[in-house]
Amino acid sequence: MLRDPAETGAPARAPLPFPDLYARVARHVPPMEWELLADDIAAILALKRQRNAVLLAHNYQAPEIFHTVADIVGDSLALAREAAETDADVILLAGVHFMAETAKVLNPHKVVLIPDEEAGCSLAESIRPEDVRALKARHPGVPVVTYVNTSAAVKAESDICCTSGNAKAVVEALGVPRVIMIPDEYLARNIAAQTDVEIITWNGRCEVHERFTPMDIAEIRDIHADVTVIAHPECPPDVVAAADFAGSTAEMVRFVADRRPARVALVTECSMGDNVAVHYPEIDFVKPCNLCPHMKRITLKNIRAALERMAPQVEVPADILPGARASVERMLAIR
Ligand code: 13P
Ligand code: SF4
Repeated sequence: MLRDPAETGAPARAPLPFPDLYARVARHVPPMEWELLADDIAAILALKRQRNAVLLAHNYQAPEIFHTVADIVGDSLALAREAAETDADVILLAGVHFMAETAKVLNPHKVVLIPDEEAGCSLAESIRPEDVRALKARHPGVPVVTYVNTSAAVKAESDICCTSGNAKAVVEALGVPRVIMIPDEYLARNIAAQTDVEIITWNGRCEVHERFTPMDIAEIRDIHADVTVIAHPECPPDVVAAADFAGSTAEMVRFVADRRPARVALVTECSMGDNVAVHYPEIDFVKPCNLCPHMKRITLKNIRAALERMAPQVEVPADILPGARASVERMLAIR
């Protein structure tokens, strides 16, 4: 039986700081840890006001970032759209480098901060501008559709960008029989399965999603009766085929919100399920997750440090900027 502290003589615990914010992350952050985080959270909230900064956070950010200091959360497409529309003076990207670079491409005169410059992406690493030039030489006249998970230099060599949320629409909007789609081979093959447009692929992989196998899905279904399995399209095609639905991280959120499955497995990065689960305590979230080490480089501590020091700032070379911007803007024009 729980005893009232007054009765036992034990000192009453002081109320936790930011109780409303804590309520959102209580499942993931123990009270003692929260007391340590609260100082950084208070500083970040004050610095954002002082700098007129907006904090954009990807769906894979840890709950203590996603649910407390972020102003806008979403998938790569939503973050790019928000970056294009913000009137803040400073954009802090709680995500990986290519996302911050996309924000800079769209806002060359604003300060764009990334708390850790080493927050990369295996897909962005998999292809260089000279590879794109070689592909174009091999397939003259075939348009290049480039996943946003790439450097600005690669975007500058491309005709149009896409994200996992709009890849099919972008490919079909071009009105051509063949496209080159780089660099994610699995995303390209998953889109090829949904369209008549022929797709030439590159051999890039997401180091997080490529590790999922159809066996993982079979095991989830064995252990958890009636589970709905949702996979990210960066997963191998046989994993996507074994799932009940595949979509970008925002489409996963929408699926859960609209369908309210009693039990769901999000086959993607670990924080995704934690972040969505906060809004749906009645849903049983099975978490067959893999961590993205790049996303996890972003912490409350380095967000605070970036806003204090106004660094590291993301820069895009002037000769790359117009080409990269044109590719991103062509994508944003497709609704
Ligand atoms: P989306 O959030 O656009 O689905 O992308 C997932 C991802 O891996 C971003 O790096
Ligand atoms: Fe890149 Fe994969 Fe990490 Fe997304 S989850 S940032 S695609 S490595």
